[in-house]
Amino acid sequence: MDLDILNTLKLTKVATSKIDTFDFENVKFGDKFTDHMLVCEYKNGSWGTLEIKPYAPITLDPSARVFHYGQAIFEGMKTYKEENDDIWMFRPDQNFERFNKSAIRLAMPAIDETRFIGGLKELIKVEKDWVRKGLGNSLYIRPFMIATESGVIASPSNEFLFCILLSPAKSYYAGKIKVQIADYYSRAANGGIGAAKAAGNYSAQFYPTKLAQEAGFNQVIWTDSNHTHLEEAGTMNVFFRINDTLFTAPTSDRILDGVTRKSLIELGESLGYDIKIEPVKVETILEAAKNGSLKEIFGAGTAAVVNQIEGFAYKDNYYQLPEMADEDSYALQLKNALTKLQNKLADDPFNWTVKI
Ligand code: COI
Repeated sequence: MDLDILNTLKLTKVATSKIDTFDFENVKFGDKFTDHMLVCEYKNGSWGTLEIKPYAPITLDPSARVFHYGQAIFEGMKTYKEENDDIWMFRPDQNFERFNKSAIRLAMPAIDETRFIGGLKELIKVEKDWVRKGLGNSLYIRPFMIATESGVIASPSNEFLFCILLSPAKSYYAGKIKVQIADYYSRAANGGIGAAKAAGNYSAQFYPTKLAQEAGFNQVIWTDSNHTHLEEAGTMNVFFRINDTLFTAPTSDRILDGVTRKSLIELGESLGYDIKIEPVKVETILEAAKNGSLKEIFGAGTAAVVNQIEGFAYKDNYYQLPEMADEDSYALQLKNALTKLQNKLADDPFNWTVKI
């Protein structure tokens, strides 16, 4: 960490916190934000001073590139409070690395670790009261970068804004969800930006997801360009359990390298699960659903944590997954192991948790 950068951080606090008006019992994901945000501008080839200031709208020229060409990336992370009031981040190095990979893919400048992780730690210290204790509670962290240079010329911006917002969170979905397997629309292309956490990857899903929701499903599981292999669900990576083997697709330039995904793979292996990281054919899953060997499907992501899928549709058919006792579910076993580790209610043999 470059202490000069942190020593020059400018901090302006709100006159009155809005924390007393926040309903921590009824949290809607990503709906409300804490009192402060972190900002940093990139101009003339370098990143400037870090600033923590009251959460407020930002003013941009209407021709700023982000509005016209979607040059925008983000991350999703969480922080947790232990019973003794210590606050912990989960694998922030992974998000930092992925943020810079996304930046490079979108022709944006990489940011240094001090501004990203060091700045985030300072922001969380200011907002420590917004992190609530207890399994299921967390503070969702949304770092993002947008192209701010004015002018509608279709070339990369030379000016950018890096910003971090914080929002108290529980999990993204309220319970088990139903999904539709994509057989027409695609989320990502070979050689495209699917592996980047780019804003456009999400807006591209909105229309097909809206159609899926109108048909009674919560999400779409995206497939490859021929719609023959299952890839990811947009807000989550996906795992399939056939008998007692857990399958998940390998990451590629179409699939986000999810931090929860890779953590569950390591955790599962440490618990002795048989995990196979290999391309998963739609045909294999349909066959397994028909012959009864498909036991579980679940999604994994920072916001969603681990989300059980109760059934899926493919073309005109719906496949309901079997009911299973909670203690037999790999999804729930992994969720329990991961969230306990994150909340410091279990040991962390992997050293994934980082104290603020
Ligand atoms: C996350 O899990 O942090 C994500 O980025 C998914 C988001 C679109 C809600």
